[in-house]
Amino acid sequence: MIHYFDYRPGYLQIKDEIEKAIHLVLASGQLILGPEVSAFEQEFANYVGVHGAVGVGSGTDALILAMRALGIGPGDEVITVANGGVPPVAAVRAVGAVPRFVDVDPATLLVDPAQLEAARTDRTRCILPVHLYGQPAPLHPILEFAAANKLRVVEDCAQAHGSTYNGKHVGSFGDIGCFSFYPTKNLGAFGDGGLCVTSDPGLEEHLRMLRFYGFKNDRHAHCEGFNSRLDELQAAILRVKLRYLSDVIETRRNIARTYTDALAGSVYRLNAEAPDGTHTYHLFVVQTPDRRRVIDALNRAEIGYGIHYPEPVHLMDAYRFLGGRPGDLPVSEAACNSVISLPLYPGLPLGNVRRVADTLLGVDRG
Ligand SMILES: Cc1ncc(COP(=O)(O)O)c(C=O)c1O
Repeated sequence: MIHYFDYRPGYLQIKDEIEKAIHLVLASGQLILGPEVSAFEQEFANYVGVHGAVGVGSGTDALILAMRALGIGPGDEVITVANGGVPPVAAVRAVGAVPRFVDVDPATLLVDPAQLEAARTDRTRCILPVHLYGQPAPLHPILEFAAANKLRVVEDCAQAHGSTYNGKHVGSFGDIGCFSFYPTKNLGAFGDGGLCVTSDPGLEEHLRMLRFYGFKNDRHAHCEGFNSRLDELQAAILRVKLRYLSDVIETRRNIARTYTDALAGSVYRLNAEAPDGTHTYHLFVVQTPDRRRVIDALNRAEIGYGIHYPEPVHLMDAYRFLGGRPGDLPVSEAACNSVISLPLYPGLPLGNVRRVADTLLGVDRG
C-alpha cells in the first residue's frame, strides 16, 4: 500500500524534538495563549517577512477573521475562485459577504487576472486569491487591479507555506495572508491550527482581539469577537517543524521532479510552474482525460490518491442560490473533472514515487 499522505515518516525523523516540546508545554502549566504561541507567531512572521502574525484555530478561521478585520460583511462582494475547495467560499459567506467567481489559467489552474474586471461590481470590496497546490497566484496583476479599484487583498496561503513570488514569501503581499496548519499542509500541526500575517499593526491588533472575544489584555469586549486560538501544544510542535520547513520543501520538490521526469511526454498534463514563483508542491496534480481508468489502476495497485477538487464550488448545492451554472467557469469545471493528486509527503521513498508513475504510464499504454 502506498499512502496518498502519511505524517508518520516525517514525524519519526524529528520525534525526540517534538516529544520534548510537547512535554515542556504540559509541564509549563499554560495551555492557551502562552509563550509558545507568541514565539511561534514571531518566528513565523520573520519567516514570511512581515511585521506580525496572529495564531488562530484553523485556516478557515484565519480567512474569516481576516475579512472581519478588514470590515468586509453583508452587502460586500469578494472575488475568488471556484476550484480552490469550499473553505475560502465558506469564509466569505461566514462574514455575510457574497463570493464572485473568476475562472483560472488552464496551465497553472491559478486565478486568471484578466477576468477580474468582468467580476467587479460597485459592491466589490476584496480579492481572495488562492495560492493553489503550492504555487503563488499572479500577485503583481492582482495587486495592481486591487490598487486601481481600492480593493483589499486577502491571500489564501493554506497550501503555500514557503512559496515565493518574485523572491518574496506569499502572505506578505496582501493586506492579510492566511495560513492553515491542517496536518496535510507543508507545515502541518498534529491537529487544527491557522494563522494570519500582516504588516499593518492596526490590523494585527484587531485580529488579536477578534480571536479572543474582542478582548485586549482585559475581559472587556472592545469589538464583537470569536473564540479562535492556536493552542500552546500545536504552537510548540509547529516551532519545531518550522525549523525543518526548508528541508521539507526541498524533499517535496525532489518528489515532484521525479514525477515530472517520469511522466514527461505522456498523456498526463502536468500543472505548469508559474514563471514568477516557486512551487512548494503541497500537491502534485496531473490532469488526465480518463480519470476513472487511472483511479481503477491506482486502486488495483493499492496506491492512494486525492482529488483537489472533484466539484467547482459554484455548482455545489449549498451555493446554488448564487446563481452559478455549468459553463460559467469552463476551465475550473474541466479541471475538476480531470485533476488527480498523486502521493506526496516527506518520507515517501522515491522508489514508490516511480511505482506510482509507472502505474499511470501503464494506463497510458493501455
Ligand atoms: C485553499 C485552502 N484554503 C483554506 C483552507 C482551510 O484550512 P483549515 O482546514 O485549516 O480550516 C484549506 C484547507 O483545508 C485550503 O486548502
